[in-house]
Amino acid sequence: MKTAPTHRPPFARTIVTQIYNFSAGPAVLPKEVLQEAAADMLDWHGSGMSVMEMSHRGPEFISIYEAAVRDLRQLLDVPSNYKILFLQGGGLGENAIVPMNLVGRVSPSGQPATIDFVHTGSWSGKSVKEAARYATVNVAASSEGTRFTTVPPQSGWKLTPGAAYLHLCTNETIDGVEYNFVPELADGTPIVADMSSHILSRTIDVSKYGVIFAGAQKNIGPAGLTLVIVREDLLGHALPICPSAFDWSTVAAHDSMYNTPPTYGIYIAGLVFAHLLRQGGVAAAERRNIAKAELLYAALDADDFYQNRVAQDCRSRMNVPFYLRDETLNDTFLAGAKARGLLQLKGHKSVGGMRASIYNAMPIEGVQALVDYLNEFAGRT
Ligand SMILES: Cc1ncc(COP(=O)(O)O)c(C=O)c1O
Repeated sequence: MKTAPTHRPPFARTIVTQIYNFSAGPAVLPKEVLQEAAADMLDWHGSGMSVMEMSHRGPEFISIYEAAVRDLRQLLDVPSNYKILFLQGGGLGENAIVPMNLVGRVSPSGQPATIDFVHTGSWSGKSVKEAARYATVNVAASSEGTRFTTVPPQSGWKLTPGAAYLHLCTNETIDGVEYNFVPELADGTPIVADMSSHILSRTIDVSKYGVIFAGAQKNIGPAGLTLVIVREDLLGHALPICPSAFDWSTVAAHDSMYNTPPTYGIYIAGLVFAHLLRQGGVAAAERRNIAKAELLYAALDADDFYQNRVAQDCRSRMNVPFYLRDETLNDTFLAGAKARGLLQLKGHKSVGGMRASIYNAMPIEGVQALVDYLNEFAGRT
């Protein structure tokens, strides 16, 4: 690693013609999707109604819903024994909804069952705390000792025989840590994965998971919609305290229409799914995401002006936290970024520094613009 020059050139004033939004979520959506939604805003396909004004039980919205489910099933190659559910409540809501739906499977009386967790950062930490209200929790492994810069190898996990499930956050949005493997569990314990910040960014084998959930506001659509993909044999075990609107078997039996679903969110998600299919599906998105991540990490690693602290083998392709060696320059860095149209780069308040989220909808041109600025700010020639 080279040492960066300490001088920095003065910034030229530039006229911003292009905005790139690096928000961790709610996050950038494909421009084509927003244009389509704008065109449909007052009158969806000649119906005379905005999607927001339609009954969720009418034929217009049902067709929107069915297309969204069909396209998502195709994108993720979701096996036929899995249900796709659209709910409300977000990722944090699922931290309660998941235990309320699954603990009863191994403990119908509601007596304490055990849930295993691997604690790899802020979001899995929140999941542990919430689940402890419904069950006994066992932190089978934690990377707290490395300040959440690693994923503990599976060989060291202390799993509970007969656990209700194993919960993983497969991409830690704040810490920038992403799993590069799917654990194999010999005893058939279902794996529950919080994929909120990397769903649809890489190919996955859905059949390896019991439940996948994700808040929509990163790679799917607007906030307010939550996606759950659940294996059918895990339905029907909800604890009596589980609200009916969050009992997955009830939601599945009503095709996500037990109560009014987040209709506009489902509509935008459907546009995103169709757009992704037109762009070659998830495998093509993954190739683009690898190229973007490599470009950005190479710029951060070029010398010691910037630092990403995550172990190489589990660096997230979606969320890239980084620090300036001289943190007194943080505000100047952010102001210069904003002046160039590079928005929302400030790191999460719990960890400080910077964070660039480069979801599916971030084009490589946006990453290149950030890299150009990183180089300029570091005084690299
Ligand atoms: C991985 C992960 N899980 C859960 C959440 C919480 O989601 P929500 O704010 O929708 O409850 C987030 C939010 O950013 C997240 O990134």
